[in-house]
This record gives sequence, structure tokens and C-alpha cells, in this order.
Amino acid sequence: MNPEDRIKELRVALHKHNHSYYIMDAPTISDYEFDAMLKELEVLEGQFPEFHDPNSPTVRVGGGITKSFATVKHEYPMLSLGNTYNWDELADWIRRVQKAAPENTFVCELKYDGVAIGIRYEYGKLVQAVTRGDGTQGDDITNNVRTIKSIPLQLNGEYPERFEIRGEIVLPHAAFNALNEQRAEQGLPLFANPRNCASGTLKLQDSSVVAERGLDAYLYFVLPDGILAATHSGSIKAAGEMGFKVPRPEHKFIEACQTIEEIQAFIEYWDIERKNLPFDIDGIVIKVDSYHTQEELGFTAKSPRWATAFKFKAEKVETQLNSITYQVGRTGAITPVANLEPVWLGGTTVKRASLHNQDQIELLDLHEGDLVYVEKGGEIIPKVVGVNTAARTSDQPRVEFISECPECATKLVRKEGEAQHYCPNEQQCPPQVAGRIQHFISRKAMDIMGMGNETVQLFVSEGLIASPADLYNLSYDKIIALEGFKEKSVTNLLQGLENSKQIPFDRVLFALGIRHVGATVAKKLAKHFGSITALMDADEATLSAVDDIGTVIAQQLVSYFNNPENVREILRLVEAGIQFELEQTEAITEGPLLNAKIVVSGVFETMSRNELKALIEKLGGTNVGSISAKTTYVVAGEGMGPSKKEKAEKLGVPILDEAAFLKLIGQ
Ligand code: IVH
Repeated sequence: MNPEDRIKELRVALHKHNHSYYIMDAPTISDYEFDAMLKELEVLEGQFPEFHDPNSPTVRVGGGITKSFATVKHEYPMLSLGNTYNWDELADWIRRVQKAAPENTFVCELKYDGVAIGIRYEYGKLVQAVTRGDGTQGDDITNNVRTIKSIPLQLNGEYPERFEIRGEIVLPHAAFNALNEQRAEQGLPLFANPRNCASGTLKLQDSSVVAERGLDAYLYFVLPDGILAATHSGSIKAAGEMGFKVPRPEHKFIEACQTIEEIQAFIEYWDIERKNLPFDIDGIVIKVDSYHTQEELGFTAKSPRWATAFKFKAEKVETQLNSITYQVGRTGAITPVANLEPVWLGGTTVKRASLHNQDQIELLDLHEGDLVYVEKGGEIIPKVVGVNTAARTSDQPRVEFISECPECATKLVRKEGEAQHYCPNEQQCPPQVAGRIQHFISRKAMDIMGMGNETVQLFVSEGLIASPADLYNLSYDKIIALEGFKEKSVTNLLQGLENSKQIPFDRVLFALGIRHVGATVAKKLAKHFGSITALMDADEATLSAVDDIGTVIAQQLVSYFNNPENVREILRLVEAGIQFELEQTEAITEGPLLNAKIVVSGVFETMSRNELKALIEKLGGTNVGSISAKTTYVVAGEGMGPSKKEKAEKLGVPILDEAAFLKLIGQ
């Protein structure tokens, strides 16, 4: 089969499997087979750029960068919905509609708590995705939306030539929690809730980061130019047949209702059941089903008269603010926490709630001793959402954010553009010291058996340790002298420290707790540089040239290694016998590929591309993605793209075929 036909065939098959997996929840092939087909398509597309398709299934992995999002005017304004929390108001609305249209059928749907999106299709292909913005115009975030696997890039069956469909992009709880866990590990501020996170994610410039976040989408509104039925529910069903993820009656996400009682039953069902949904909803939307009736009812200036939303009350209680504690994290980030008069909320007793940062405290205009409203939303930690100002007396002073670290009295800093305050006293501030050591010994880092967070706390307060390197100076005598330690526990702990000397370099690098350097980034850096000395020698430009290392991480690394205290600490760890080099690179100090920057292109006879790349790294070379003047060699297999060849020739970069490459490395 010629490559063009194979590319087409793979695209059709992958679109189909994608639909079965992400929309119908009924996979038709194994993940392995899917990945293999995707890989094959990626390789072919690399070789034959002339068959580029912006809607190829390969765009799901992202990679497109949007420098700034273009503003796009909406063809139809993006209106909001009237809403109520109140049964009587809802009943009034229902009666008004029934009076105007006695035969009317209502449709009840979930009110997804996410980010509204309008997506345009032309001839079955996704062409543009735009945010709500101010309702009249929004941001073009097409690149990012293309990475969301439940949004079809290519439609099936019958569809209108050109039309728009709207819906909501949501971040499921599992993805939200995993992301926040990862951020906590990296010492980064957490996202407040899935909606904020979804909205922030969609505004990221790098779509490959968007692709990894696990966004999902439900479509619930077909605009007039795309209507293929007489009713809203008919349109939604038709949209489902085109391949969209739409609410389906069998999930009870959409239901036809005739009476107030039926609508009320649907709302009550979901007010309870929403706790079991994998994403947030904040109410129920009730719509008039017939388009004809919708037209008769029309719009007010802001919203349609043919639909309304019944919003769920977030579980909220009032309680007294007793005090505020300022917590200092391992990276020095300051988090204000409200200590509350204990109160029962959503199945647990709440004593503390997050106040996030100074801006949040100012926004609430919080005064000491205030009666505050505490709410439990999608997030696990409850938060203070408001103040009962009517109950406030004149002798309650306004809450002033602290200016000094509560632990070490160092003056706090707040970087421009950041919401969080930091304590800059990294080396001596006790929670930062303990936090850093606790991170160092943790399971994913040095995994030191026989030692826990309390032990670290104790050793720090007893003055035995002040940095990770001090751990390796601990002696049997010093520890056994402390209360609560027996012979067995001390020998276990010392053995645990001894064993940690075998932990590989990438985990040691993660264990150092450099801001933004989580486990994945540490792996990449270790693999790329091979040793701490090579990493320390790298400047910002070299660092940010590494795949997946952005300027933020690069700057952070440079400033970390510019701090003499950090360098001293690393030297002490080296002396203690900790691994600061990758094992396999130890041997390479010479050879034809040492420090060579190599671009691999095409397919090879004697090995796969990945095997070839691994071989290059093993021999001390580095794989780079694109050809530049700095490239040492291009290793070209069968079917290298013509544009790559041209570029290499223009820049005078030697092109090696498979045989020449093998000869060079002496195989
Ligand atoms: S229909 C003309 N259906 O809630 C209005 N909206 O607060 C068409 N929303 O703007 C919107 N779930 O962003 C509709 N099932 C649903 C919805 C929904 C969430 C959002 C949407 C809307 C906002 C109004």
C-alpha cells in the first residue's frame, strides 16, 4: 500500500477506536495495538509532511505552541442562563412556560461545572474552538482543544456542512487530584478546584502540557446552523451519532420531563447522586425541547426564556474564625489556614479551612473573630467563602497578613505575578529544613527505611541534623541516646541510610527538592546530563534546549546551583557516597559520539528508532528533535523527509545512513 493510503487508513481507524474508547466507554482494541498504530502514523507523518492534517489523531499528544490566543467574534453570542436556588421560583418558571405552550415537553440535563466552549466544524472536520470570553468574543484555543480526546476531530455519518456545537470542558476529579499531588511533590501552589484548573489549562501555550492534563468534554447545545431535528433532544441524539460526547439517557444525564414533579425528582436524584460522578456539576439545566416553542419564547437581553438552571446549594455552614495559622511549606511557600470553631459539614467535622493567600484574605475582607461561611466544594480541603458582616462588631480589627516568617522571623517576599508569599531563609527556617529532609527520605526519593517524618522532626529539633547530608553523619551513639530508640530501630535506620547509597542518580536529583524538579523532570535531566557536574555546568540556554525543560525550570536550576550552600551540600552528599552519576554513563569518557547532538530520522533496518536512540545515549551522544547549526550528525534511515534533508545540507550537517553510522561506532 502506498504511504498516503496507509496514512489515511490509519487515521480513519484511529478516529474510530478513539470514539469507542473515549465516548462509548467500549474499547475495540487493546491499548497496545492502539499505541502501535498511533506510533506508525507518527512515523509516516514525519516522513511525509506533505500529507499533514491538522485533525490527524496524532495531534492528541499536542506539541503546537500558541504564543497568544487570537480574539474571535462569536457567530451567535454566548449567553448565560437564568438561574435559581429556589423551588418556588423554579415552579413559577415552569408554569409560565406551560401557560405559553401547554403541550410542552421539558428536557433536564446536568449543569456541568467547567469551561464553556464553542467548537466549529466544516465538512466534518474540527476547524475552530473558542472560549466564552465576554459572550460576544472569546479566545481561539483550537490547538489546545484538539488534544482533548473526547472531542472528535473528524465526524461520522451525516452532519451539516458548517455548524457550531457548544459544551463544557471539565477536568475529572481523578485527573485533578493526581495533578495537585504532583504539584505538591514539586513544591508548587495547588489549584483551588477542577474548574479553575481546567480554565488555566486551556490557556497554556504548550498544547502538549494540555494533552497530559486529562481534560474531558460534554457537548449540550447545537447552534441553529447545525440543527438536523425538530427538538433539542433530537439534535443532541444526532450529535451523538456524529461522534460527539453528549449526555445520554441511559446514564440519566438527560431526561424528558412533563411536570413539575418529574423535574423536581430529577433534581433531587442528582443532588444526592452527584457525589458519585467523576466530575463536578453545580446544578441542573431545564430546557424547552421543541425548537418551535423555543423560538416563540425567545430571549431576554442576557439569556434564553426557554431554559433555566436550578443550582445546587454548595454545602455551606457558618462558624467562628478563632485564629489564623501561617504554614510554611518545604519550599518556603506560606499558606494561611483558618482555625475554626469545629462544625459539622458534609459528613465530617471541620476545624480548619484554607485561605489560600493574601489576596484571598483581602477579598474576603476578613476581620479577627468573624463569623465565616465555610464550604465544601469539589476540593477536599474546605474553604472560607464569605463573612457574615452583619454579625461583626466594631472592636474586631482587620486581619493583617504577616510580613515575617512565623517560624524564623525572616522578612517574607512575594515575587511579582505570584500570589504566594515565600520565606527566603531556605537554609535555616525549621519547617523548610525539616520539610527538605522529609522529602529527601521519602519513598519516591531516597526511600530511607526505618525513618519517618516524626523522626526527622525529632532529629532536627534535637539539633542532630540540619540538612540531608547530616543524615550520613548520624551515629549509633547519638541516636540511641534519644528517647524512644532501641538497638533494633537504630540499626535499621542506619542500614536504611547505607542502602540509600545505591539509589540511582535521577532519584537523588529528585530528592534534592529543587523547585519544579519533580520525579519526571529529574529523570529527564539525569538521562540527558548523566552527572551532577554536567548538570551544574549547563547554562540556562543549554538547559532549556532539553526536551520538556522550559525556561522556568532552567532558571530555577541555575539559581539553585548558583547558591554556594546548595553546592556545599551536594559535595557533602558526594563524599557520603551518594550516586551523582548515571551508572551507564560512568564508562563513557571517549568515543565518536561523546557529546554529539544527533537527529534521528526515518526507519532503520537493523534496529528500531528507539533502540537507535538508546544506543546513541549509551555512547554519550544526545538525541535532539530538530536540525540546527549545532547538530553534529543526522542519522537518516529509510524515507527521511525531504525538508529535513534540505535543512541538513544547507547547514552543512553530515548525514549518515545506517551503514555509515554503524561503521562510525565500530559495529
Ligand atoms: S445550555 C443559551 N446546558 O452554564 C444557553 N449550558 O450558567 C445555552 N452549562 O452558559 C447553554 N451545563 O456554560 C447549557 N447542560 C447545559 C449546561 C450549560 C453547563 C453552562 C454553560 C452556560 C452556563 C450558564
